[in-house]
Amino acid sequence: MLSFKRAAQLSKKTEQILIPVYDGKVSAPNIEKLFDLDLKDELTFFYKNEKPLKAGEIFEIPVSAAGYRCERLLFVSLGKSTSSELRTAGAAIGRKLRGKSETVFLSDSGRGSRQLNSQELKTLLISANMGNFQWSMKSDRKATTSIIELPNLDEREIKSAQIISDAVNVARRLIHTPSNIKTPAWIAKEARKLAGSCKVEVKAGNQLKEFGGLLAVGGSSPKPGPRFIKISYQPRKIAKSRKHIVIVGKGITFDTGGVSLKRPYDLMTAMKSDMAGVAAAIATMSALHSINAQVRVTALLMCAENSLSGTAQRPGDVITHYGGKTVEVLNTDAEGRLVLADGLAYAIKNLNPDYLIDIATLTGAASLGLGKQFAALYSRDQRLVQTLKVAGENSGDRVWQMPLIDDYQSALQSDIADLNHTADKGDFSAGSVTAALFLEQFVQGVSWAHLDIAGVARSETDSGEHPKGGTGWGVRLFLEWIGTFK
Ligand code: BES
Ligand code: MN
Ligand code: ZN
Repeated sequence: MLSFKRAAQLSKKTEQILIPVYDGKVSAPNIEKLFDLDLKDELTFFYKNEKPLKAGEIFEIPVSAAGYRCERLLFVSLGKSTSSELRTAGAAIGRKLRGKSETVFLSDSGRGSRQLNSQELKTLLISANMGNFQWSMKSDRKATTSIIELPNLDEREIKSAQIISDAVNVARRLIHTPSNIKTPAWIAKEARKLAGSCKVEVKAGNQLKEFGGLLAVGGSSPKPGPRFIKISYQPRKIAKSRKHIVIVGKGITFDTGGVSLKRPYDLMTAMKSDMAGVAAAIATMSALHSINAQVRVTALLMCAENSLSGTAQRPGDVITHYGGKTVEVLNTDAEGRLVLADGLAYAIKNLNPDYLIDIATLTGAASLGLGKQFAALYSRDQRLVQTLKVAGENSGDRVWQMPLIDDYQSALQSDIADLNHTADKGDFSAGSVTAALFLEQFVQGVSWAHLDIAGVARSETDSGEHPKGGTGWGVRLFLEWIGTFK
């Protein structure tokens, strides 16, 4: 990991110095003096006047100065320092320091050259710590921490970058953990460890009688069986005016599809990530005290394994959800909406939310249109959509609004239950829309948004900010959005 520290000046212990290059320009008079260098000359030598310089390019030069340990300068191109370029450059810095425990000084540029403002710096640092993330169960792995020393910069922004990026990496660790380890009971244990001073309640076994969806899915793997986990955060001073946000996460610890087994089978290896919604929710909750959030937040984690066994539910079963709605199960691979429905109904009945948001790796269909750049956002509250969009742009976890197509409502009509749980008739090819409309049946009378993160929750390559595997998508979005409540 990376640890950010304020440091007024270069210390003798520093091992490397990062020199930002803005739009091809560089200026760091103190460093030039110390190492007796002309940085502009050095830069021209490396870049050979190639233009435009790409954000994230890093060039090293060896240096030495009596009494200083530093042996290397790293030029880091920030391009024109747009936020996406700052993210790219940050990720490159983080990657460069992967697996190392070094002390690195990030030079601010001298007067006359552009300086990063604190918001830009925060963006750069968050991506740096994200790019630095590594996870493995190799027997010879060791934990590494590099320290980035920052001069003359806002302490608050440095702290905030640390909290947010650490939280993203918490979510990633949960997602990367393989499913033989992360049972629903394991998730409950992690939630307790990570919740800090938030309150945590866990329901299991007989306490889940009313949670028909969670039981139907989780019954396929009765040991240890499903868990309903509730994490509650309250600001230190409670005012009547405080809003209450409820986040409901899909926490399928492994999704085989159940009796409606996933095919082709190699699709399944990625399904340890099917609890990425819950991972984002836990990681968000873990950071709320540190960011001093001014709003009440409750997370409901709907955790179960969707397994294939003699106790698994069958296509054709009818289940009764929390609150009493009955649902005809048509395809046991559409398990996410079943566990979410219980959580949404629970929130409506017991928690009186001002905003109810669910986050789920719900449908492969969501990623067909939007790929890995945007999560699918469904909501009928355009003001909420707007604030989430802005928070997405600012944080890097971007969302795109999708339509709740009313023509699709008839897809949910069942002959024998209150609702069908997938479309089995007619021409309803937008699977992500059907799923969203199904969830909407459980949230009447509240401002609700649904985030389908099937596309963005996982990266198939180790590149940029993301490792191969869980991305921790949603943590930055939630923390940014929650931070806008004053
Ligand atoms: N967990 C999957 C969705 C998924 C697919 C997430 C690919 C990430 C990558 C979900 O439970 C699922 O199986 N959905 C089905 C729904 C269908 C059976 C109506 C799907 O998308 O195919
Ligand atoms: Mn499934
Ligand atoms: Zn699933």
